[in-house]
Amino acid sequence: MAKARVQFICQNCGAAHQRWAGKCDSCGEWNTLVEEGTSGGIGSGPGALKSARKGRAVTLTSLDGEIEDAPRIVSGIGELDRATGGGFVRGSALLIGGDPGIGKSTLLTQAAAALAARGHRVVYVSGEEAVAQIRLRAQRLGVASTPVELAAETNVEDILATIADGKRPDLVIIDSIQTLWTDLADSAPGTVTQVRASSQAMIRYAKSTGAAVVLVGHVTKEGQIAGPRVVEHMVDGVLYFEGEGGHHFRILRTVKNRFGPTDEIGVFEMSDKGLREVANPSELFLGERHAKAPGAAVFAAIEGTRPVLVEIQALVAASTLGTPRRAVVGWDSSRLSMILAVLEAHCGVRFGQHDVYLNVAGGYRISEPAADLAVASALVSSLTGLALPADCVYFGEISLSGAVRPVAHAQQRLKEAEKLGFGRAVLPSGSGELAGGIGAGSFQPTALADLVARIAGSRRSRAEETD
Ligand code: TYD
Ligand code: MG
Repeated sequence: MAKARVQFICQNCGAAHQRWAGKCDSCGEWNTLVEEGTSGGIGSGPGALKSARKGRAVTLTSLDGEIEDAPRIVSGIGELDRATGGGFVRGSALLIGGDPGIGKSTLLTQAAAALAARGHRVVYVSGEEAVAQIRLRAQRLGVASTPVELAAETNVEDILATIADGKRPDLVIIDSIQTLWTDLADSAPGTVTQVRASSQAMIRYAKSTGAAVVLVGHVTKEGQIAGPRVVEHMVDGVLYFEGEGGHHFRILRTVKNRFGPTDEIGVFEMSDKGLREVANPSELFLGERHAKAPGAAVFAAIEGTRPVLVEIQALVAASTLGTPRRAVVGWDSSRLSMILAVLEAHCGVRFGQHDVYLNVAGGYRISEPAADLAVASALVSSLTGLALPADCVYFGEISLSGAVRPVAHAQQRLKEAEKLGFGRAVLPSGSGELAGGIGAGSFQPTALADLVARIAGSRRSRAEETD
């Protein structure tokens, strides 16, 4: 009989090694190799140890044909349905990742209750909390009377046997995949092999029965869903639930969606009675604004299909250090270096003797290059000590040549700004007609230098006013 081989599986990337080592050759992480049985290494299926059997022919079919049931289950929680692209899809698996304590269980308890109240069969399986704890949370959320079916269980075979009983569930929630274990894999719960095999079983269940399955995954310090980055590839959709320490709002961000748009967000606020939807995020992010302070510019962003206004704050202060500091929160630091370089090279603005701090208000995170113009304006405003007009929004991309380049969805951005009472905009030329109220006093520079001259010029006009 062949001796059962042991393997060492990297808990970060899932690569299999023959020998233990301090560092994984594949991803370069330290101390991530854990001894596991061979049954679950990369490339081996559930039955890898059994002797090969003859394959069974499956019936091939056509693209066109009957599709069972309505494909989506709508929860009625608008921000959640927006992030999932219109509701949970039947027969699909969704992964919701996030830091511990961010509110994943709260969100899913609310979703489960909302769906159960609409007459769907919802099963909530928790491997982390006892039934009493989940009941306490449900009471706090005011949903204890909804017919959600609850279980505290971690073994996949037991879970599958439980939910096979009775009517097929519409939604099965597994909180969390790190606690699951299956008899098929012989390593400890939480290891890559177990997480992968268990998730695979749940995904297979979703596909074969047409139930929607939601898997909860914890994120590690490095920001990856612990170990099972592999799981991200297996599921049909990945949502991240994010929030900034000290802030109450939470963002549900779509990272992958086989049935709808990605880069969509849902915005919530954590209250003492659970998560509350924030239908107009701009009001939240612009909340406490000191419009008269230099260094602040309002950026009209687009998140998925929705415009969001956020304040960008810059502080440029004389530096006592040999190498001045550049610190960024909520934006890309290499993008900041690029904007600083363009301002130096093409607009004659010098930051060499200054520390530069950049912050996106409210703990929000921006990834759009369209924020360039707002960042540059905030930087110049802070350096010169001249406050920007309070009723003005900024958007536009800056190229390395110092030109201001058009960005998509100009009209949508302007409309949102107008709705919130902004009367002016600084935007790339060629962005089309300016929407209704926004017009007079707006500015469409072709080069960043024009905008810098205009901001610096506001000193002169202000001095003339006071004369
Ligand atoms: P939880 O959903 O348990 O987080 P996760 O499942 O992502 O680990 O949320 C835990 C936090 O949310 C906890 O710090 C308490 C807070 N919370 C509220 O502020 N209000 C509430 O109504 C609930 C249920 C939780
Ligand atoms: Mg939880």
